[in-house]
Amino acid sequence: ANQVGILAAEVYFPRHFVDQKELEKFDGVSEGKYTIGLGQERMGIVSDREDVNSIALTVLDKLIKSYDLDLKNVGRLEVGTETMVDKSKSVKSYLMQRFEEAENFDLEGVDNKNACYGGTAALFNTVNWVESSAWDGRYGIVVMADIAIYGKGAARPTGGVGAVALLIGPDAPLEIKPVKQHYMRHTYDFYKPDLTSEYPVVDGPLSITCYFEALDKCYSGWRQKTKKNSSFSFLENLDYFCFHAPFAKLVEKSFARLLFGDLQCCPEQLQSKIGKEAFEQLEKYRNVSSSDSLKDKTLEKTLTTVAKPLFKTMCLPSLKISKNVGNMYTPSLYGCILSLLSTGKLTGGEKLGCFSYGSGLSATFYTIQVHAGDKLQKLNNITGLIDERLNARTQISCPELVDFASKREAANKVSSESLKNAAFSPSGPVDSLESGTIVKMGIVDFYSG
Ligand code: ACO
Repeated sequence: ANQVGILAAEVYFPRHFVDQKELEKFDGVSEGKYTIGLGQERMGIVSDREDVNSIALTVLDKLIKSYDLDLKNVGRLEVGTETMVDKSKSVKSYLMQRFEEAENFDLEGVDNKNACYGGTAALFNTVNWVESSAWDGRYGIVVMADIAIYGKGAARPTGGVGAVALLIGPDAPLEIKPVKQHYMRHTYDFYKPDLTSEYPVVDGPLSITCYFEALDKCYSGWRQKTKKNSSFSFLENLDYFCFHAPFAKLVEKSFARLLFGDLQCCPEQLQSKIGKEAFEQLEKYRNVSSSDSLKDKTLEKTLTTVAKPLFKTMCLPSLKISKNVGNMYTPSLYGCILSLLSTGKLTGGEKLGCFSYGSGLSATFYTIQVHAGDKLQKLNNITGLIDERLNARTQISCPELVDFASKREAANKVSSESLKNAAFSPSGPVDSLESGTIVKMGIVDFYSG
């Protein structure tokens, strides 16, 4: 199969959000810490009415409806998530309800887990299947879904919720190119050892260092591989960059780090991209090692300042969902790609650099080639509705956020105790949810919304 990649896509984010300015006041932190320091505007939140299975089903339903899919033509279904509600039963098995209705039981693939990276693993598995001799001519579907919620404290404003569904096949408008650079290690930057809680144990500063280290390694490795294998390489040959986006400021700093990479490997190309004056500000850092650079705040500030004009055109358009919904974990990078599509800037011929990161850790840098045509137009039309959908949400107050969070804590406790005897009645609001949202009706009568 040729030109394998993303044929169609849908995104789901919840109807309820809190305003980050209000959260700053409520948490008693200095004004601007979440909005300027982290770069976030709003954060999506779900009550006990939804869980990972329901949001995965909601986004799958959206994909089926928006593209009028015949589920008999799907031969692979993969899920990426880190929001486990069961140690054995996969999220994919819940999604099979839709395929059972279509009498299709023949679907390869299950769940992929590694923090925020599982969606990318699911995507690569599916693309590889379509490109392999095992492919039977049918489409693949990848669903990524997570509820990113943190306990009270510094990490809470970096939460979020969401799901993305992708249809994978040949002749795709978003072709996943084969050259990839991975970086995988054993780290404890963010993990969830308590199976009765949704809250991760997180070492924030370590997670950021791990993210930057992985980015440096992936970008430099990808450049070396690309140089050998194809005509395009370096920052100047890619048109847009999309990152896993825990919060916008981290993405802005990450984009700036690409310039640091280019400064070391290909200063001439970098100078031609950013101009002599900007280049002179960076030149003195040319021999600083990647690990030393991570400790140098002046270098970080200089890089971010020099990179700002490029960031505004090459990366900021991808942060619409991320700034307004927060970290969606596995779908985060894909929410960025869909945000970029929603601007209508992609008309065919563009190349996107993509960085996926999951704590623990797994990371990959890869690229997407955009192809013009009706399928791209349809993707642009569907994602063009994202603004309207973001604006149709309902703002909740910070005390309501705490109430939603405590409802979730109680729901998780119930499901981790005796499932059989639990009398669980979700009590979060339903009237304000979007039509078509799957909701939890109770522990026995699971998803009949
Ligand atoms: N106005 C403007 N900026 C401000 C203000 C203010 N009033 N107050 C603080 N800031 C800035 C700080 O200077 C800092 O910016 P800098 O890093 O550029 O210097 C930024 O706001 C954050 O402030 P900190 O005090 O460093 O933040 P804090 O310790 O409160 O926590 C963190 C931030 C670590 C990101 C935390 O929210 C967290 O742990 N989040 C979860 C982990 C995470 O998302 N990791 C990313 C990769 S792994 C993943 O995807 C889960």
